[in-house]
Amino acid sequence: MDGISRVLTGTRTTGELHLGHYVGALKLWLDAQRSDSDCFFLLADVQALTTHADRPELIRKSVRDVVLDWLAVGLDPTLPNVHFVLQSGVKARFELSQYFLMIANLTEIRRNPTVKAEMKGVRYPTMGFLTYVVDQAADIYMLSPLNVGGNELMVPVGADQVPHLEYSRKLARRFNKAYETNVFRPCTAKVGEVGRLVGIDGQEKMSKSKGNAINLSDSAEEVTRKIMGMYTDPNRLRATDPGTVEGNPLFTYFDAFATDRAEVDEYKRLYQLGQIGDVPLKRRLAVIVNEILGPMRERRLKAESMKLGEIVQEGTFAASIIAEEVVTRAKEAMFVGFPE
Ligand code: TRP
Repeated sequence: MDGISRVLTGTRTTGELHLGHYVGALKLWLDAQRSDSDCFFLLADVQALTTHADRPELIRKSVRDVVLDWLAVGLDPTLPNVHFVLQSGVKARFELSQYFLMIANLTEIRRNPTVKAEMKGVRYPTMGFLTYVVDQAADIYMLSPLNVGGNELMVPVGADQVPHLEYSRKLARRFNKAYETNVFRPCTAKVGEVGRLVGIDGQEKMSKSKGNAINLSDSAEEVTRKIMGMYTDPNRLRATDPGTVEGNPLFTYFDAFATDRAEVDEYKRLYQLGQIGDVPLKRRLAVIVNEILGPMRERRLKAESMKLGEIVQEGTFAASIIAEEVVTRAKEAMFVGFPE
């Protein structure tokens, strides 16, 4: 990837990952790992607390679950360019977060469409929740490329994260301007082809909290059961009724997971003519999805006996070294510290 020297992205550790994460973001992360850029994958356990501080046992379990999910999809921290980073373990990150809070303002945060949508599901938003997009900017810019080759920081994410990245770019530019520095290189967002996957219930987004997800760790039987019960075209009562393809989750999934385009086109044609039923299609989809999840199950099994703590410690250390230097530079620019 030309000009890209670093890749940073993250996942909140609030539960197991699902197919939506896979098509929306993790596939991009795998591409990044294959490039020669340094990749930092953040286990966002601090951000998890913005909504789940009352569930410590969930946070504890989820950090490990997410590491296993990452290893299962094929992220490989034994490669020299790949690091798994525990957000709470990078002390300099908290410092940077605090400095960004000083140049962020509430009005612009309230305008953020993702925050607005999430706010609806949170009854008593905490201060941590209100400011998490600023904290996320610290996740990103703690790794601002200062003196490495190339000068770009790329952030591969699902579509819902785009407003956050836009905002982080704004903060980076604002900081640089106010303090006449170039410490922060505004990041580049990268969003996958399938930015957002619908749930198996046909709702807008697959999500663990809505119970409409197929988890990466689901067994083959569970996957088949979930797909057989999937929401399709509600107006189609018999297999001989002409069906609707547009907006039908069944076909969204075929488009997202099948590799044989001609096969999918043929199913769509038959469906619209009322010449193929939901049941055989669902059976076929279950096979396709299980073909993708099969190798993940094998890798997960191996990962379970790996020293996960050491992997995370190594990555967290690598990120901390960089973050320390960035924060030192930022503080110098702000004249924070005892005047020389
Ligand atoms: N907010 C992201 C999510 O909910 C997780 C995240 C935390 C992140 N820090 C990040 C993503 C930094 C990209 C960059 O999925």
